[in-house]
Amino acid sequence: MSIDCVILAGGLSSRFPSPLSKVFYPFIDKPLIEHLLDHVTKLAFRKIIVVTGRKTHDYFEAYEKEGLICRVYQQEPAGTWDALITALPAIRSPECVVINGDMPLLDQCILKKIINSNANIALTSTIHPNPIGYGRLMRGTDKQLEAIIEEKHLTGDQYVTNEVNAGLYKFNVDFLKKIEISKNKNAQEWYLTSLWDKGSPYLAETQIIIEDDYRLLAGVNSWQDFEQAEVFYYQLQRESLVKQGVLLKNNQSIYIQGKVIGANHVTIEGPCVLKGPMTLAPGVSIKPFTTIADVDLKDSTTVGSFSYLNNIKTEQNVVLGPFLKAVEGTLIYSSSAIGSFVEIKRSIIGDNTKAKHFAYIADATLGASCNIGAFVVFCNYDGERKHRAFLGDNVFVGSSCQLISPVILNNNAYIGAGTTVTQDIPAGALITRRAPVRIIENWRGK
Ligand code: UD1
Ligand code: CA
Repeated sequence: MSIDCVILAGGLSSRFPSPLSKVFYPFIDKPLIEHLLDHVTKLAFRKIIVVTGRKTHDYFEAYEKEGLICRVYQQEPAGTWDALITALPAIRSPECVVINGDMPLLDQCILKKIINSNANIALTSTIHPNPIGYGRLMRGTDKQLEAIIEEKHLTGDQYVTNEVNAGLYKFNVDFLKKIEISKNKNAQEWYLTSLWDKGSPYLAETQIIIEDDYRLLAGVNSWQDFEQAEVFYYQLQRESLVKQGVLLKNNQSIYIQGKVIGANHVTIEGPCVLKGPMTLAPGVSIKPFTTIADVDLKDSTTVGSFSYLNNIKTEQNVVLGPFLKAVEGTLIYSSSAIGSFVEIKRSIIGDNTKAKHFAYIADATLGASCNIGAFVVFCNYDGERKHRAFLGDNVFVGSSCQLISPVILNNNAYIGAGTTVTQDIPAGALITRRAPVRIIENWRGK
């Protein structure tokens, strides 16, 4: 059956101390709303209607142009019910899901459960250890829903109720069109939750889906909520990796962003930052103080401490770092070692090749079993353009060499230490460039 989605994002974020609306505030790695949209856009909604307001309308334009959503403008932020009613003319499906726009951790599993509800009205609740700020579900002795009361209208015993309204609903649209509610008199706002005022006929029509993990339903109103949601985000990311068989040591200091796919026998030691997309094959080991983004590390690759990796791939048994910077599409084949204080970019490294100390390798293709000595510099830039170096198999580059690209060092070429290579080297040749040494005896004794 066709179903629409309405995201409420027309509020002024008045409890959020930033000129930017909370839904566009950067949360982890992107605007908060994009976390929600990532999930919502993957589901088969006919249309995603976003209720925008003064603070958000322009910001949503780009998403509308991309075809992800369509905007409906709420003139005044008169409350969540008013926001939903503003969207009503745009809803064309027989059913619609309604989501508060400030829920960055909501996932598809929770959305699917409410989509599958057959009741005229459904809402998601959860038991919250710290329910402050949320509307509370009041239940009678028979556990039937008796009312939803907003935090600021709670009195007496009602404060201890910790079942909260998540801000996620589903409606039969014909039913929704006939609903009449009145403005909350105390707040002078149209609350969506007035649907469930004490004695309301809609209480009995409502199916309640209770979610176990309250963290996934976190709503962001204040800085404190924002910080709390960040904490939950990282907890959930870590838990997901542990479920995939990854061992996390010093785990509170491991920050995982985006989609990270782990495997059995992967070990990650904090502190470190991992930014997806990322795939870590069995046996991968990541030591502390590393920042790693957008990598694909094959079996038993080890990453030493204080390394920075961004957009690289390795094959099996590669040893990286410590103190390595490897970036920009570098690909390292199996059993190679790129070690301490090496910077490597836009390069391809063949099997079993070693560059273990102090080197700059840029725009280079190296064959198998090469050895790059300490302080070797691939001089790839002539001030105007970048050039590549090609090294065949089993090439030996002694310490303190400069390879002036473009240059080709054929198989088995052997470059003596301290050589500046300015021309292609034939296979198997030795090249050295050294000024003769002068020895002046007793120089200091004179
Ligand atoms: C709301 C619920 C509360 C629930 C909580 C869950 C109501 C009255 N209360 O409270 O029961 O526990 O969410 O997090 O719904 N918005 C508009 N137009 C408006 C007002 C709000 O589009 O006129 C949007 C906001 O931008 C926001 C969403 O609706 O994304 C929810 O509004 P918010 O003010 O955050 O509601 P809460 O007070 O958190
Ligand atoms: Ca909220």
